[in-house]
Amino acid sequence: MGQPEALDDWEGRPVEEWARRWGVPLLEAYDELPSTNDHLRVLAEAGAAHFTVVIADAQTAGKGRGGKHWESPSGMGLWISFLVRIDSEVPPILVPILVGLAATHALERLCPSLRPGIKWPNDIEVEGRKLGGILCEGAGPGAVVVGVGLNLHQGIEDFDPGLKGRAASMEMAGCRGVSRSKVAGELLSAARSLVDPPPPLLDERLRQEVRDRDILTGRAVRTEVGVSGQAIGIGADGALLVEVEGRVQEIRAGGVMPIDSGAKGAT
Ligand code: BTN
Repeated sequence: MGQPEALDDWEGRPVEEWARRWGVPLLEAYDELPSTNDHLRVLAEAGAAHFTVVIADAQTAGKGRGGKHWESPSGMGLWISFLVRIDSEVPPILVPILVGLAATHALERLCPSLRPGIKWPNDIEVEGRKLGGILCEGAGPGAVVVGVGLNLHQGIEDFDPGLKGRAASMEMAGCRGVSRSKVAGELLSAARSLVDPPPPLLDERLRQEVRDRDILTGRAVRTEVGVSGQAIGIGADGALLVEVEGRVQEIRAGGVMPIDSGAKGAT
């Protein structure tokens, strides 16, 4: 198979026009890619600029965190990656937290009845179901490829049987007809205000915002690094704070599962 060919037009307009509207240096759009993250990593290694954006209508090998597959069917969601260049003092775990916050702002702006939450470190949830995910990958010194997948138009029957009951889309949450271009525009604008550049630590205002969106606080959790206890929040550097027998442990790797039924809904 040859190289995928970039589209001249996306969603009815020239890609240069979207790039101009969104204030990003470059947009590459494709009908299909294996993974927008993998494609953007190649561009990053060749020197692509901060906030270069890659979008694919479908991904054939969409990647989730922990080596999982990310379902990315054509026309059903926004599969997007953008490049964030960061200073060495920015803790890498902060980037998915800030982009998660940006995604909740964007979705809520497009659908004010929605109240999306963040599940550390990289999930966007609505009513206990996963609506989106973020995969941040390093692409050389100071370069982070930020991949965001947001389910928009799926019905419950469109998800793999293994995801039923755990996955959600904007449509399923009652937000119909939201176009990918609108979601991309709002997401990039919200991301620009939070990670352009990313702060070295969350200030008190951002910590409060994260606290308001965090769906784990107060719940019993089990982490992939083997720590179980009660989630008590997210630290200024993006670490998950888990209280175990009166002591606070800071988790910076792996994922986490709630192990209670959870007033906010378990995943
Ligand atoms: C997760 O929740 O596990 C992260 C999912 C990230 C999916 C997005 S879709 C666009 C970008 N390209 C990929 O291959 N993955 C991310």
